[in-house]
Amino acid sequence: MTQRIRKRPIGVFDSGLGGLSAVRRIRQLLPGEDLVYFGDTGRVPYGTRSRDTIRRYAAQDLRFLLTEADCRAVVVACGTVSANALDDLGAAYDVPIIGVIEPAARAAACATRNGRIAVIATPSTIASEAYTKALHAIDPSYTVIGQACALFVPLVENGFVSPDDPIPLAVAERYLAPVREAGADTLILGCTHYPLLAEVIARVLPGVTLVDTGREAAYALSELLAQEPCDAGTDTEPGTMRFFVSDEPQGFANAAARFLGEALPIAVQRVNIEAY
Ligand code: DGL
Repeated sequence: MTQRIRKRPIGVFDSGLGGLSAVRRIRQLLPGEDLVYFGDTGRVPYGTRSRDTIRRYAAQDLRFLLTEADCRAVVVACGTVSANALDDLGAAYDVPIIGVIEPAARAAACATRNGRIAVIATPSTIASEAYTKALHAIDPSYTVIGQACALFVPLVENGFVSPDDPIPLAVAERYLAPVREAGADTLILGCTHYPLLAEVIARVLPGVTLVDTGREAAYALSELLAQEPCDAGTDTEPGTMRFFVSDEPQGFANAAARFLGEALPIAVQRVNIEAY
């Protein structure tokens, strides 16, 4: 009987829980890959912090995945890190690093018909203008509408995600009014948490195409791995998952299923991320 060739795992990190929505997409697309997830639950949120702090945290998150799990590629599921630190991370390590900005910008460019593309994200992602730059690199004539939605992350973390709940609907109405007024036909959900609000957002902006950054990063990862000489993603044996966090694991484990779409198969481990 032949032994399965085990490849080194794929790392995924985020400021907290939300990146599990990207893990879910990666599992759907590449079920044979072994995945290692780090969520910086002890220092979340990143989205309201300075660029310097985000870059320092992101470097530690990446170093953890590379030194402890020997990942052969890393997906930065966090929109805030992708927008503020990807250049820094890419320069420091000789490992492929996939952020969410370029894959999502490409998807939005494919989807738009009227060239008006909106981006909703954390305040630091919007302030970085990373999406505007990525979209204008594809086509400088695009109109890009950026809207910071600081209340969306706490709404999702506290389970306020139903399109029949007046609270998330009222918040979404307020944030998305400029998107509607600008006539955008495509909206990038530029933060890990926002796919969970997709039904609320679709209710407020009917007919607008929503771009899920986790799904687009998963496609970018599968394109990257397809260039490898042998493809673990087509293996029939399911890949394994490991989960690490920087705060107490139980809260993460309890909330994880909502993002991942399945119960966590194994215990979550705690790490001292400041040591990396
Ligand atoms: N993960 C962050 C992002 O995608 C949202 C949560 C935070 O602010 O840290 O931007």
